[in-house]
Amino acid sequence: MTTPEFPLAAVRAMPKAELHVHLEGTVDPATVLALCERHGEPPPAADEAAVADWYRFDGFPMFLERYFTVLGLLRDQEDFALVADRYLQSAHDQGVVHVEFHISATGHIVENKKVWAPVHDAIVDGCSRAAERTGISWGLIPDISPHLPAAACAEAMDQVFAHSLDHVVAIGMGGPADTWRTDDFASIFDCARSHGVPAVSHAGEHGGPDEVRWALEHFNAERIQHGIGAMSDPEVVAMLVERGIPCDVCPGSNLALNAVASAEAHPLPAMLDAGITVTIGTDDPPMFQTTLLDDYHRAWDWCNLDLAGIKRLAQNSIHASYASAANKERWSAAVG
Ligand code: ADE
Ligand code: ZN
Repeated sequence: MTTPEFPLAAVRAMPKAELHVHLEGTVDPATVLALCERHGEPPPAADEAAVADWYRFDGFPMFLERYFTVLGLLRDQEDFALVADRYLQSAHDQGVVHVEFHISATGHIVENKKVWAPVHDAIVDGCSRAAERTGISWGLIPDISPHLPAAACAEAMDQVFAHSLDHVVAIGMGGPADTWRTDDFASIFDCARSHGVPAVSHAGEHGGPDEVRWALEHFNAERIQHGIGAMSDPEVVAMLVERGIPCDVCPGSNLALNAVASAEAHPLPAMLDAGITVTIGTDDPPMFQTTLLDDYHRAWDWCNLDLAGIKRLAQNSIHASYASAANKERWSAAVG
């Protein structure tokens, strides 16, 4: 049986939200080179094609090393504004009506010694510029990279909580999960909640169901980024389904980082069958040679979806977002 042709124009025209994309992972090869030139840094590779090649990884550690190299090229306010503005334009061009940007806040603050307020304000400026042009809606998810000690992350996140939270829809947890159990990250999420800011968390990307359980039980995550590792434990699957916790799945990212052995081995069809609320995201699109429409295409192929199945993914993304109730109602009606 051959898969029917992906209805690209209809999917592009459908309102949808992107809930799993890292601002620092949206920097395309041309912009990497431009940032290096601007800041007098040697480029990681000679030209655009070579940087695109540098954006190919043998696994998660190699990816993280390069991701943090790119993160370190975002230095002044115009850098942050530019990348935010560019990605929202590209999302708008794909029919995205709402983006929630994960921002590696502890990377900028702890590792790169940035002050949060100007970084935040520059991102807000870039997003506002794009929103004025396109009407796109957006929110920010400053996140914790747990390869840094929890005490340093807590101090960094205190800067986040002390500044404007008007556009901060949640705080998040990225990176590897090895230190979650041995260091006190949970109290950072408690502190966020005391400021009225909910939690989301990466979990079950390269790790298994225990990560997802931990994110739910200790961080009180309201949404899970990836969550594909949950599928080997029916109890954790039941927790996701019964609590209505959405998983923001990134098929192209999972392939690019060998989180799954092959497209055929990806649990996306099983997640949908199990009744998990799935949304589709890109994670770090140019780093994984993908776009949101490419990732909807993968979902179409891998799950034998029809247009109703695509509409369900778009509806999930809208309802799982932290957009305003009025916007959700309007976009949801437009999906049909
Ligand atoms: N930060 C950026 N991309 C990430 C990913 N795929 N997993 C965890 N943290 C990330
Ligand atoms: Zn991610």
